[in-house]
Amino acid sequence: MTGKMLQIGLVGLGTVGTGVYETLCRNHDLLEARAQIPFEVRRVAVRRLDRPREVEIAPELLTDDWHDLVEDPNIDIIIELIGGTTEAYRLIKAALEAGKPVVTGNKAVLAEFGGELFRLSGEKGVPLYFEASCGGGIPIVQSLQNSLICNNVQSIVGIINGTSNYILTSMREKGTSLRDALESAQKLGFAEADPTFDINGWDAAHKALILAAVAYGIPLKPDKISVYGIDRVESVDQHFAGRLGYTIKLLMVIKHHTETDQLELRVQPSFVPLNHILSKVDGVFNAIAVKGDIVGETIFYGRGAGKNPTSSAVIGDLVLAMRERRHPDFHTGFRPYAKNLEVLPISETVTPYYVRFRVQDSPGVIAAIASVLARYEIGISRTSSTFSTTDGKGLTWCNLVFMVHECKWGRLKAALKEIGRVPNIDRHPVVFRIETFND
Ligand code: HSE
Repeated sequence: MTGKMLQIGLVGLGTVGTGVYETLCRNHDLLEARAQIPFEVRRVAVRRLDRPREVEIAPELLTDDWHDLVEDPNIDIIIELIGGTTEAYRLIKAALEAGKPVVTGNKAVLAEFGGELFRLSGEKGVPLYFEASCGGGIPIVQSLQNSLICNNVQSIVGIINGTSNYILTSMREKGTSLRDALESAQKLGFAEADPTFDINGWDAAHKALILAAVAYGIPLKPDKISVYGIDRVESVDQHFAGRLGYTIKLLMVIKHHTETDQLELRVQPSFVPLNHILSKVDGVFNAIAVKGDIVGETIFYGRGAGKNPTSSAVIGDLVLAMRERRHPDFHTGFRPYAKNLEVLPISETVTPYYVRFRVQDSPGVIAAIASVLARYEIGISRTSSTFSTTDGKGLTWCNLVFMVHECKWGRLKAALKEIGRVPNIDRHPVVFRIETFND
């Protein structure tokens, strides 16, 4: 092992930061032997110096100002693990401007500011690495950038948020409420500090935007993605899903429609057939199926969140950053290279659907729904229902489920609006896509 010792600056000592520091200490010699580069963690920036730490760390390493790291001429590489967007953006920008490569796991900052940060990275020739931003410990970014480089990517479909998958699994298997399951995911270190984005689908959407950018070489386009979260899932829908041969998963769907050169880009809870491999992906696990024109089908599976899996991805990038620091003429940091791909309007996307209406148990209600669907040329493949229950006002209600054949979302939406005007039907039916995985 030869050459100058590389000095690392770590910003953030939360769940993942702690895991990274611990692993860099524990596996230091192994990493040096494998990378063939001597390194050390020179400084660690934290928000509050007085907070008790899970990890033993020399006090002289700590500072509460990340500028100390960025401005230190001895520090070669910055690891950003503070989360959030405003401060993280400032930090990454300052580090790139100072010529220091950055390793980040921050999907939110990339989704919001990635366009500018990757441009800056390209202009300065200073790489920005982000494996840990997608899929926790799953090596999906580097796989798309390197191993699968010869492929035209046809689709990327998967489960990409560990917290929501953990919650859906607990709700289905143990009947846990969303709130209790979320609390448990927070204790286990899967959920974000503010779990709103885990629940409303935006954490998965940030990852989908990043993967679409990497797979197609396009700039990030946060305003174009269609996003729904697991807050729409009720236990009655999980019950119907099981009865009908499905399970509900929060799915990311990125699909290239070659005939129109458009990209389908969406995140939403969907019915996944029980005989499909993604239906077996439970708990905090993520799985990402990538289909390429040369490789065919691939599937990447692993823990999508948590201290150690995410640290594994951060340190993989760190070693890459160290190697490329030694050979600065070449680096694998991302730069958009392709023309902008138009996103297929969500109203034009086609799948079968599950639609659950809450209706008053009265003669003709099924016929009324069926006749509107028929008028919009939407075929029904299956129906199901629950027994009626009587509410406090003496009205009798039941759930009616219609599984409908493939149709454009725009058409179904128009039909549902009309059905909403029929008396005795709750105006807000629950709708989930059914994924067929046919193409
Ligand atoms: N909150 C995220 C998740 C962490 O649950 O997937 C990993 O990005």
